Amino acid sequence: MYQTLLTTLENGIFTITINRPDKLNALNKQVFTDLDHAIDEVYNNAEIKTVLITGAGAKAFVAGADITEFGGLTKEEAMALAKRGQDVFFKIENSKKPIVAAVNGFALGGGCELAMACHFRLCSENAKFGQPEVNLGLLPGYGGTQRLTQLVGKGKSMELQMTAHLIDANEALQIGLVNHVTTPESLLERTKDILQIIMSKAPIAIAKVIECINIAVVSDSAYTAGKSGYDKEVEAFGDCFITEDMKEGTTAFLEKRKANFTGN
Ligand code: COA
Repeated sequence: MYQTLLTTLENGIFTITINRPDKLNALNKQVFTDLDHAIDEVYNNAEIKTVLITGAGAKAFVAGADITEFGGLTKEEAMALAKRGQDVFFKIENSKKPIVAAVNGFALGGGCELAMACHFRLCSENAKFGQPEVNLGLLPGYGGTQRLTQLVGKGKSMELQMTAHLIDANEALQIGLVNHVTTPESLLERTKDILQIIMSKAPIAIAKVIECINIAVVSDSAYTAGKSGYDKEVEAFGDCFITEDMKEGTTAFLEKRKANFTGN
């Protein structure tokens, strides 16, 4: 039914597995199309009570947006790409049904952003998290500047996004990016155990919890100023696409070499 996702529905738990393991489950346009439809299914199918999102293979949850799709985009096209990603992730964040990420390896760039759009996260001991976009002459475009800051605080978010450092599972636990660390073998079962507990509670009350907590992290001052941090992020993402450094950064990644940035 989906080209890039595997889905199963068992005892009310809908498992969505991003399935491009040879590309470390990188998020291309088709993944976003499929994910958008899968979340529609979550909204509309009464049999689905809760959702688990994970990645195929032992190595990666999602290693980011698909960098091969970045070449030759105009500023406007880049902004549309970021907006599209943000919209699909808002749909996840605003789902009335709990959506939990089971992070089974690399969660980088758009992968970390996908995990952060979920209501909370578990990960396996081999997981690695990061927003390495500055290595490409870019910044996160799918809500990462906002959600990482909400989850781990301003200073840590600044450092992680400026250095592009990857952190391991224990550090992710320590800074509040994930709630639990498990062995790779027990990740899905442990996540499902928590979803089972949630499914024993009143669904309307759970939906209201999600709605109220989401409101708690929205910056009122940003909205009243007419521009949210998410809008600013879309614009900044577009701005980066017309720089020489972005061309150099993405080309260097694809040529498997280190980028040489000049500030242009
Ligand atoms: N977009 C497109 N392709 C990607 C990708 C991405 N974000 N991440 C990995 N891939 C591809 C690689 O190009 C490679 O493809 P190939 O076999 O056709 O050459 C394949 O997935 C395996 O990745 P590889 O880099 O060979 O694995 P590794 O173990 O050496 O390194 C990572 C793993 C995660 C450290 C490395 O893939 C990486 O840095 N990925 C990009 C992370 C990133 O910058 N994400 C933010 C994007 S905005």
